[in-house]
Amino acid sequence: MEVFACPECNGEVEKKKNFFSCMLCKKKYKIKDGVPFFYEKEAYLAEMEEKQLNEILRNLKKNSMDDFLKYLEKTNKKWFEYMTDNTRGNVAYVLSPKKYDKVLDLGCGYGKVSFELARIFKQVYSLDITIDKLFLINELTKKLKTENIYPLRANAMELPFKKDSFDAITIIGVLEWVPEFNEGKPKDIQLEFLKRMRDILTPGGEVVIGIENRIGLQYFMGWPDHNNLIGTTLMPRFLANAYSKARGRGKYRAYTYTIKGYEKLLKKAGFKHIRFYSPLRSYRYPSYIFDLKTGNTLKYFIKKVFLPKSKKERYMRRMVDFVPSIFLKYMSPHFLIVARK
Ligand SMILES: C[S@@+](CC[C@H](N)C(=O)[O-])C[C@H]1O[C@@H](n2cnc3c(N)ncnc32)[C@H](O)[C@@H]1O
Ligand SMILES: [Zn+2]
Repeated sequence: MEVFACPECNGEVEKKKNFFSCMLCKKKYKIKDGVPFFYEKEAYLAEMEEKQLNEILRNLKKNSMDDFLKYLEKTNKKWFEYMTDNTRGNVAYVLSPKKYDKVLDLGCGYGKVSFELARIFKQVYSLDITIDKLFLINELTKKLKTENIYPLRANAMELPFKKDSFDAITIIGVLEWVPEFNEGKPKDIQLEFLKRMRDILTPGGEVVIGIENRIGLQYFMGWPDHNNLIGTTLMPRFLANAYSKARGRGKYRAYTYTIKGYEKLLKKAGFKHIRFYSPLRSYRYPSYIFDLKTGNTLKYFIKKVFLPKSKKERYMRRMVDFVPSIFLKYMSPHFLIVARK
């Protein structure tokens, strides 16, 4: 595993039977059921309760893949779609790194993107902080006989990698969450995180970031933000913070930005060749990926090419009429952002 290094001191690590050992600071990192743990504190971030995720994992372990999917289809339609829709992996197609050797899926969640990346890259490192998701991926790699996916537990701000390790990094629905488990000003943490992403990329390597647009059309239509409150992205940060605390949702830390904001942040982190795409239906389901270089025709695309699947999406398509064509690209609900080292 030549990509790994000690998250504490960046020293060389040696793989033993059940752990990694740092040759410099002597720290040990357990390997549990084949998953290395480079982070030991508690952290759970998932759209479902831990109990439910455990139940899904138990079911996967004891059943065939077909029976598992039948079970998901019956008990949890949303998760069935999330685990089976191959368009989720389309994020890989906006990347054009120099090599397709090693990719890091950072904040990989249940691993759908990782499995799509595994068809294109030689080795996929699937990193998350939430333990059970990694065990789920581990189990799926066995069931699907995918041998080039390596799940591992780590914190995005304490990475167990050597410099210049990855040809590409996918960061889908994660950048906004990084301040959540780390102390400091959210923007400073996000900037530091992006600098570290750049460090572990090979020269000419690329990141792709899937994330919401702070001034996305959806927020003008009253859709809630990450803290489940309406309107917070459109407020100045200090006001969003006060409002979030007053409503009992804690501090406002899941920062998103505008095109300008992301561009500034990425440039500050040392990235070049920054490109923006509008993923439709969303960055989670990028069934269509529209290049915002030709953003003035996004309106036509949404009206004439994009096929909405839900009530919400149909409503969004109608709202597009109220935005002048030249502004629409700045209000794309989500972005896929590609940037190069
Ligand atoms: C919204 S999910 C996205 C999952 C996946 N990328 C996908 O598109 O399906 C965000 C993921 O980031 C992980 N995450 C959040 N903060 C993290 C951190 N500091 N270090 C590592 N993973 C983190 C969460 O556990 C969660 O699985
Ligand atoms: Zn060390």
